[in-house]
Amino acid sequence: MTAPAQARAPHVVRVEPAGIEITVRPDETLFDAAYRAGYDWPTICFGQALCTHCHVRLLGADSAVLTPVEKDERLALQRVARRLYRSDKAGLRLACQMKIISGDLVVEQRAFRGERSPGQHEDGEYGAIRQGADE
Ligand code: FES
Repeated sequence: MTAPAQARAPHVVRVEPAGIEITVRPDETLFDAAYRAGYDWPTICFGQALCTHCHVRLLGADSAVLTPVEKDERLALQRVARRLYRSDKAGLRLACQMKIISGDLVVEQRAFRGERSPGQHEDGEYGAIRQGADE
């Protein structure tokens, strides 16, 4: 696969311990991909890098390239690391902020059960939720 074609290819994220695989489109966060696929992903702030409920720990990302951590995500990760991981930030990312540039990965999200919400995941409805959250 050529580099441009590889950059446009979807990525597969396996979420443990649920054992669910989610296909993530280029320029889409794992959080958005999960909702698009109909899964309930832990959140309170719906992608605003505030609640930290969406956070994941990277388990197998050696071959994946992710977008860099920006300021809002870094501050949120510091809070969640202090609260839940004895300040160990290794491998922590917010599913609502990180995007995958290349490769596939495995993440741990302890609160994700792989449950679907019928009627909550149509692109139109979800788009409206996200649009409202971004205002
Ligand atoms: S959804 Fe709230 S911080 Fe990501």
